[in-house]
Amino acid sequence: MNLCDFAPEYIRAIQPYQPGKPISELAREMGLNEACVIKLASNENPLGTSPLALDAMINALHEVSLYPDGSGYALKAALSKRYGVDPEQIILGNGSNDVLDLAARVFLKPGAAAVYSQHAFAVYPLVVQMIGANGISVPARDYGHDLPAMLDAITPETRIVFIASPNNPTGTLSSEDELYCFMERVSRDVLVVIDEAYYEYLPEANKPDSIRWLKQFPNLLITRTFSKVYGLAGVRVGFGLTHPDVANLMNRVRQPFNVNSMGLVGALAALQDAEFVQRSYALNRAGMLQLADGFRKLGIEYIPSYGNFISFRVKGDATNTPQVYQSLLQQGVIVRPLGIYEMPHHLRVTIGLESQNKRFLESLENAMAIGEFA
Ligand SMILES: Cc1ncc(COP(=O)(O)O)c(C=O)c1O
Repeated sequence: MNLCDFAPEYIRAIQPYQPGKPISELAREMGLNEACVIKLASNENPLGTSPLALDAMINALHEVSLYPDGSGYALKAALSKRYGVDPEQIILGNGSNDVLDLAARVFLKPGAAAVYSQHAFAVYPLVVQMIGANGISVPARDYGHDLPAMLDAITPETRIVFIASPNNPTGTLSSEDELYCFMERVSRDVLVVIDEAYYEYLPEANKPDSIRWLKQFPNLLITRTFSKVYGLAGVRVGFGLTHPDVANLMNRVRQPFNVNSMGLVGALAALQDAEFVQRSYALNRAGMLQLADGFRKLGIEYIPSYGNFISFRVKGDATNTPQVYQSLLQQGVIVRPLGIYEMPHHLRVTIGLESQNKRFLESLENAMAIGEFA
């Protein structure tokens, strides 16, 4: 026996999260110039960061010798005003992943269970397993969440249900009616996490009015992030909106300074940057059409998406998928393989700038020609 053998079995069984390959790593591996590599692998904003956020962070750089405001007072006040909730209902996180983790740490323990969908965001099973709780994965329907089946899968031990809408990596959306119906039917003893990391990319008509439901459902936690449309993935800020009693418990288990000072300042400024959000939204819509059109021309099946990414199916059997992935890498284009999502035929591409989307489509066409399974 060595020290590591004493770590709980459920910790040793965890498969590490596989992030998108960094540009510098690919450039090193392939002997490519970093400037020629495009990364469309992590659903980042191709326009970069909100200029207002960037200025605010540059101006605040000289303060990094100080600890951040551990309560996040100013950011919570701004979020409270924006979303019409009390500051006591807000929990800030080091990215929304942190908020998901806090929810698991508050409500799960060995023997408890959490329900999520097949093909749902990989962090749900991860945070559940870290606690030694049981993950119940419910088969997806047309790649989306089967909410009635998820409701049926809830056991007396279940304390959390995770719902991603839109979901990553499938881009599927549960409608407002479906979500509301789920909330009405689920036991109040189960926390329902509605993960809305891609909310700002939804057309107005598809945006559920979920925040309004907080008044009715004390067991609802809505998570959002500054990583996507606001372009702040690197400084890690996300937040949760929930009942004050739930937020209070989550606050007890978070690290005292879980959101760093650049993140606090950047997020506060980004929240005011309506112009950048609008520009990012419009670029994403146009890029979505461009990629969908490109896939159709190449005869490639894709899953219609509500996020800032699309998952597409590589033709032929699953052995072709790693070949296409590799060929794209050799051409300096990084996308995301989806084996860990039980989607071995698919790759996920983040919607980029028009020129990046074009280059991706050309590289994909090349990759398929090389593999001779066009
Ligand atoms: C569905 C979903 N939820 C949450 C996150 C976490 O984002 P972050 O921790 O950067 O806020 C992501 C990131 O890719 C995501 O796709």
